[in-house]
Amino acid sequence: MNPSNSSASPAPKPPRKIQVSLGERSYEIVIQEGITAELGAHLARLTKGRKTLVVTDRNVGPLFGPALAKSLQQTGFSGSLAELPPGEGAKSLDIAKFLYDRCFDAELDRGSFLLALGGGVIGDLTGFVAATFMRGIDFVQVPTTLLAMVDASVGGKVAVDHPKAKNAIGAFHQPRAVYIDPLVLGRLPERELKAGLAEVIKYGVLDDRAFFDFIEANIEKLLKKDPEALAAAIEKSCAIKARIVGEDERERDGGPRALLNYGHTFAHAIETCMNYQGYLHGEAVAIGMVLAADLSVQQKLLGRGDADRIRALIEKAGLPVKLQPGDPPSDELHAATFRDKKARAGKLRFVLATAIGATKVFDDVPEDVARRVWDRGRV
Ligand code: GLY
Repeated sequence: MNPSNSSASPAPKPPRKIQVSLGERSYEIVIQEGITAELGAHLARLTKGRKTLVVTDRNVGPLFGPALAKSLQQTGFSGSLAELPPGEGAKSLDIAKFLYDRCFDAELDRGSFLLALGGGVIGDLTGFVAATFMRGIDFVQVPTTLLAMVDASVGGKVAVDHPKAKNAIGAFHQPRAVYIDPLVLGRLPERELKAGLAEVIKYGVLDDRAFFDFIEANIEKLLKKDPEALAAAIEKSCAIKARIVGEDERERDGGPRALLNYGHTFAHAIETCMNYQGYLHGEAVAIGMVLAADLSVQQKLLGRGDADRIRALIEKAGLPVKLQPGDPPSDELHAATFRDKKARAGKLRFVLATAIGATKVFDDVPEDVARRVWDRGRV
């Protein structure tokens, strides 16, 4: 062995790249350990603009902001940082207005871009401001939670909440790129990691049995934040989402994008009835996926064995699989499924599984069967 190489650090792993193919709105998802500290070089190749506003929150900013700011400065970018209070409350028109003011303070113009450094709230809000400031400027996503990496940062749906409904004011505005650094998950609280795993499991159920098998075989590694297992799970999840968004950017009626809502009709009903308190989004999705699997069995679409496998994996991931005694009554939850935006013309619309790895949209589920699933979801 050449002694001069004996203390050399291991060669960096090559990036994993996924293309979201949308014509002139196409973009790349780059997954690479340590990419946060090298973003300047990537951005310099991506954009001519050199002015940016980095939007983050007070939890994430202090952790990853300094390395990012250094990299931006070293590569000739100028800009400033907006650190917002953490939590869903930041997804408001008031905070959007605050960010427009910050964009003017930073003298951003149509060639500038916004950089979202954080979870889904920061990504959705920053994307909304980018979609509307000067009729639309570029933005890039640097997600720091597993849920944002595999779901919220990809797809171009951007929004703020209205007091009457979540994500009610928004746009389709695709990012110019998504940069994912699996190392940042080292700082993610365990509960949030598990909530992100709910969306990872969702991709296996909705689209890919082999991926479901992979998650099942690697669940302990994923829970221990094994970097290889996590990178592989993120890559596959993003690849599935990228393919579906590429086929159906705007969720047309009958298009495949609706399948990404597997478990979400139930989850949104739970979240709405509980005023977004109690369960994290991923936890509500976990319960919703178990209920959707059970409804699939009731409709004779899915075998009980497959539904049990889905439930067992969700449970192994440390996620809830049933409603708790203090949760809202079934009648209230059932009524909320009708208000969900996926119920069209008063008809209940569900994404149901016909196998592990295959899903379809159904709007012919009898109301009494859908109602009973809420009772069944307590045992
Ligand atoms: N921004 C999330 C999505 O488009 O699905």
